[in-house]
Amino acid sequence: MRHSNRGAVDPFIVMDVMEAARKAEAAGRHIIHMEVGQPGTGAPRQAKTQLIAAMDDPMGYTVALGLPELRARVAQLYLDWYGVTIDPARVVITSGASGGFLLAFSALFDNEARVGLGTPCYPSYRQILKAVGLTPVDIPTTLDNRFQPQPVDVAENNLDGLIVASPANPTGTMLDANELKALAEACAAHGAAFISDEIYHGIDYDQKPVTALQVTDDVYVINSFSKYFSMTGWRVGWMIVPQDHVRQVERLAQNMFICAPHAAQKLALYAMDCAEELDGNLAVYTRNRDLMIAGLQDAGLTKFAPPDGAFYVYVDVSDFTDDALGFAAEILEQAGVAVTPGLDFDARRGHHWLRFSYARGTYDIIEGLARLKAFMATRR
Ligand SMILES: Cc1ncc(COP(=O)(O)O)c(C=O)c1O
Repeated sequence: MRHSNRGAVDPFIVMDVMEAARKAEAAGRHIIHMEVGQPGTGAPRQAKTQLIAAMDDPMGYTVALGLPELRARVAQLYLDWYGVTIDPARVVITSGASGGFLLAFSALFDNEARVGLGTPCYPSYRQILKAVGLTPVDIPTTLDNRFQPQPVDVAENNLDGLIVASPANPTGTMLDANELKALAEACAAHGAAFISDEIYHGIDYDQKPVTALQVTDDVYVINSFSKYFSMTGWRVGWMIVPQDHVRQVERLAQNMFICAPHAAQKLALYAMDCAEELDGNLAVYTRNRDLMIAGLQDAGLTKFAPPDGAFYVYVDVSDFTDDALGFAAEILEQAGVAVTPGLDFDARRGHHWLRFSYARGTYDIIEGLARLKAFMATRR
């Protein structure tokens, strides 16, 4: 049967790394997983207990925009975390941030619209844009700009939209209030839509992240219960949209998804009151981050921007290889550590970069760093 060109998107290379790691484990090897971008912890315990008690509910469809009590609770989070008042009517509950992207792109852009991405970036932005007939525009960023796009990029690339992530994947760098404001203003001046992916909020270290809603209402903010709330597989997230976009997004959500999974929405509601357990997870990431910064440097991997948030370090390995894919395979084979080559995040320059995730337990981080140090000693 025929198939579409826009559906011919690139594979997610990290999945290939995970498969190679799985094969090594099946062959009896012990592998440290620094490739996976998800918490090793599950949903908060108390939230799961509450969900079990709620399971007599038939869990039919919810309304398309999500459970009203969850939308109100998300609005409350903006007051608690940032001091920003959001009308719950602007909150859209989605099937993860991924479902949010599909809704946002469909609501905002017509065919072939040019949507800017500061590379390196989360790979699925590019692939989803392509799959829905839009034009992803790569904007190469620099270590000096902490890997974030600049306001001038909007007009220079004649963009119809710009997506930023703060903290970002794979670099963990953040945008401060002034930087977000300047980007939002550049988008407004050029008639471009501004989309802010804030999925790693809550996983931050020295300074609190700023939501784009602190500097503008003219933005789609996308977030999720996958990371800080440790609920990756439950597939629930949210989006805050301008008031006059709610009805358009609602119509799309009704037709594309009907609703986000009902049980997952309930679990998300309960998880929002589990700050103590979730902040315990954050304490582990904080310790892991310090170990990573010191341990990578000790191993001779010194070229990176220390992450402000998320649980990744993106390292320039150009002193050691021109082939990050092969280098990652060697590290897996010789050191038993799975890491992600940069090509997923930056097709042009990623062959000189590796992403290390520290989302797992601290023991794994200590062991993984010791193995990396021994491996790197053979490369110098
Ligand atoms: C920056 C970023 N945005 C979005 C997602 C997708 O998240 P979700 O599980 O909510 O669909 C990820 C997943 O790793 C991510 O890193």
